[in-house]
Amino acid sequence: MASLKDGKLKLEWAREHMPVLKIIAERFSEEKTFKGLRIGMALHVEAKTGVLALTLRESGAKVRLASCNPLSTDDDVVAALRDLGMEVYAKKGESKEEYYDNLYRVLELNPDIIIDDGGDLTTLLHTEFKDIEVLGGNEETTTGVIRLKNMQRRGILRFPMFDVNDARMKHLFDNRYGTGQSTLDGIMSATNLTIAGKTVVVAGYGWCGRGIAMRMRGMGADVIVTEIDPVKAIEARMDGFRVMRMIDAVKQADFVVTATGMKDVVRDEHFLVAKDGCIFANAGHFDNEVSKEALERLSEEKREVRRFVEEYKIGDKKLYLLGDGRLINLVAGQGHPAEIMDMSFSIQALTAEHIAKNHHNLEPKVYAVPDEIDYEVARLKLRSMGIDIDELTEEQKRYLEEWKEGT
Ligand code: ADE
Repeated sequence: MASLKDGKLKLEWAREHMPVLKIIAERFSEEKTFKGLRIGMALHVEAKTGVLALTLRESGAKVRLASCNPLSTDDDVVAALRDLGMEVYAKKGESKEEYYDNLYRVLELNPDIIIDDGGDLTTLLHTEFKDIEVLGGNEETTTGVIRLKNMQRRGILRFPMFDVNDARMKHLFDNRYGTGQSTLDGIMSATNLTIAGKTVVVAGYGWCGRGIAMRMRGMGADVIVTEIDPVKAIEARMDGFRVMRMIDAVKQADFVVTATGMKDVVRDEHFLVAKDGCIFANAGHFDNEVSKEALERLSEEKREVRRFVEEYKIGDKKLYLLGDGRLINLVAGQGHPAEIMDMSFSIQALTAEHIAKNHHNLEPKVYAVPDEIDYEVARLKLRSMGIDIDELTEEQKRYLEEWKEGT
C-alpha cells in the first residue's frame, strides 16, 4: 500500500539534498520561466524526479508525468505528488498496456517541451502522435540518445532534442557514481548477500560499467570486465580488472551485471556454462540485456524465491534473475542518490529553459547541451559542496592565448 506520508517525506528529503536544483528553482519561480508552456515528462517516477516535476510546475509550466519503465515507480511518491495536484500517470508493476496508456496521457497534454528517459515518449511523437508540435526536448540516457541519433541519421527527427546524457555534469557523475552506487544498493537489497569475496562480472565498461566495477571492487569483489570495444577493454585492464569474453567469465561468476545498452549480452550459451547459483542483474535501460527469453526456454522450473529474485532451474543448476531483468537500481534500489540527480536534473531544468527561450533558432536535430549550462551546474555544485577552486591570473590567460617558441 502506498503511503502518502512516506511519499511526502521522501520528496522533502530529496529536495533538501538537491541544492543546485533548489537555487535554479528559486530563480525559475520568480521569473516564471515556463509560464504558458506545457511540459510532458517520461522519467523514472521517484522522489528526485518528483522534485524536478514540482520545480517545473512552480516555474509556471503545466506538467504531466509518466514513468519511462514499468517497474521503476515509487508508489509513495506518486501518492504524494497527486496529493500536491500533480498529474502523474504511473504505478510500480505496470503491464505493457498500462505503461503505454500512461505515456498517451502525457501526450494528450500536447506538450511544448518533453523530457524523456530512454526514448519511448519521443518515439510515440514520431509514430502515433505525429501531429503534436513540439518545440524541443531533452533525453536523459545513453539508450535514448542512441535512438535519437538513429532517427536523426534517417532524417525523421521532427523537432530539436538535447542530449543531456553527454553533458559532462550528467554522465561523469550520474552514469558513473550514480549507477555505481545505486546498482549495488539494488543488488544488495534484492539478495541480502555478500559482495566481498565474490566474483562479479561487469558487462560493459562505459561510464555506468566503470562505476559498477569500481564500487564492486570497493566492496571486496573480484571484478571481471567484458567488452566489445578494444580501447575500453584495455582501459579496464589498466584500471586493474581482469578482462575476458563473457563465455569464459560467466563460468567463474557469482554475479553478472550488465550495463551495455545492447540486447542478448547474456544468452543461451552463457546460461549453459554459468556456475550453479549465479545471479544475473541488469543496470541498462531495457530489460533485454540478460535474455529472459533464453532463460525461460532453457529452464524446467521457475519460481520467485524473494521479492525481485526469480529462480530458474536448468538441470541440476539454479540460476537467478533479479528484478525481471529490468534496471535493478530502480526496481530493487532507490535510484541514484539525490545529490547525483541534483546535477542531472539541474542540467535538465536549464536545458528546458534554453529550449523555452531559443526554440525559434533551433532545428530538428540532436543538440549537445550548451557548455555554459554544464559550467553553471558545476559552479553551483562546487558552491554547494563548500569547495573553492583556483582561477587563472590575467597573465596566465595571456600565456594561454600566446604563440611562443618553446624555450
Ligand atoms: N532517478 C530518476 N531518474 C533516474 C535515472 N535515470 N537513473 C537512476 N535514478 C533515477
